[in-house]
This record gives sequence, structure tokens and C-alpha cells, in this order.
Amino acid sequence: MARERLTLRDTSRFKDPAGLTWERYVALQARERERYLAERAALPAEALAFRTVSPRYLDRAVEQFANNYFPEEAATRYIATAAANAPFEALKTCCLFQLADEQRHLEMDRDVFERAGIPERDWLPAWESPGTTCRFFRHLLELEDTIEILVKGNFVAEGAAGPGTFAVLADGAEARGDVFSAVNHRARVRDETRHISFARVLVRALIDDDPSNLDVIQRWQDESLQLFVEVARGGERREWWEGFLASYYKIALPLGLTPSALPI
Ligand SMILES: [Fe+2]
Ligand SMILES: [Fe+2]
Repeated sequence: MARERLTLRDTSRFKDPAGLTWERYVALQARERERYLAERAALPAEALAFRTVSPRYLDRAVEQFANNYFPEEAATRYIATAAANAPFEALKTCCLFQLADEQRHLEMDRDVFERAGIPERDWLPAWESPGTTCRFFRHLLELEDTIEILVKGNFVAEGAAGPGTFAVLADGAEARGDVFSAVNHRARVRDETRHISFARVLVRALIDDDPSNLDVIQRWQDESLQLFVEVARGGERREWWEGFLASYYKIALPLGLTPSALPI
């Protein structure tokens, strides 16, 4: 089946809500990195070596680490595709700034895996095991259209995972003695908020440009949520999933999107 495509006819409707230029972005990225490194440096050495957590925590956390690392890896690739195929300059610039953010997140998550002493051969099997967001991200990697990637990846997935689930993950990790993961999640969420904001402006612009675009966006949203169904299976990820949906409602409902294909 041919994929549906959306075009923003009046591209002046889209403006980067963060108002970033290359110069401002580089300064912001440098500040963020400095802040992250200072926070990490303030952590006790035992926490950075995962000696403050129980062996049981580490066993179970491998799947969570994979659920952080591989989506960031996917993001560096799908956002690069989105930048390469961007239909206009202002959108391309937002994608390129995001690419640099995602690369940094990817490196943070690689650091977690390595410091936790988890051999690299175990990473991919953990990601491919049931209950991860693997299916959704593999779908995103097959897409080529910038607008579809941004609606599904930024608006739906990050829109939900950003504010809600990362807070849940940070608090959960901290409560189990994994303060390093908590610092990472809190650093990541500051960038993800920016990625969500520009996707939200894009969705708004598409609906203002042509109200019938809402139907396609709705279908993309439903398709994305369906791919997340697997994550909701089993009680273990209940908290994650509830955080995900709660945040998602906050960004989708004010724009007229209804959760019509909710898996649970
Ligand atoms: Fe990210
Ligand atoms: Fe992101």
C-alpha cells in the first residue's frame, strides 16, 4: 500500500518555536553538555560503577538500558533521513539540531551499558525481546518522508515518552540506587521537550493549512500507538505505559487528536 503523504503548502506557518540559529544552538548544546558533565562528576564513584544497585536490579535493567539506547540510536538515523528529505529549510534546521542532541543521548546510554559491565553481545537480544519499543522504532527506520517521521517520532512517541515516562524512569532508577541513569534521563528530557515543541508547531501548521490533514495525522497516530501495544503487555511496564499515555494526551487532545485506537 502506498504511504499517505502530507504537504505544508504555506511553509511560513512553520517557525522553530525555540528560535534557534546555528550559533545559538551550539551555545545551548555546550551549556547542556557542561551541565551534564558537572552532574555526572558529582556522582559517587560507586554509583557510576553500578555498585549501589542490587544484582537483581542490574539483571532486570538490561532491558530498560536497551529501551533507552536503541531508540536513541534509531533517532539519530531517522532524524538524519528527515533532515535529508526536509521539504523546506526551517524544518531541516530543526532536524539537524535534533540529530546532534540524539547523538549525545546515544553516547550517554552507551556509557551506561559499558559502566554497568554489560557485554555488547547482550544489548541487541535485550532490545529484540518482547515488551520493548523495538517494533515501533523499526517502523520509523523504514520511513522516508520527513513529515511522517516527525509526526510519528517526535509528536507521538517523544510527545509521550518525553515528559511522562522519563520522569517515571528517572524516579524509578533513583529509588533503586541508580542515580546515574536518573541524571541521564533528566538531561535527555530537556532536549526532548524541544523536539516535541517543533513537531507540535508542525502539526498545528498542517491542520491550519488544510483541516483535512487531521485525518492522516490521526491515522499515523493510531498506527504508532498500535505498534506500542507490545510494551503494554504484562504488568511490568504498567507504570511506564501509564506515564506514556498521560503525557501523550496532554499534547494530542488540545490539537483535536483523539486516542481512537488505544491498545488498552
Ligand atoms: Fe533522544
Ligand atoms: Fe529526541
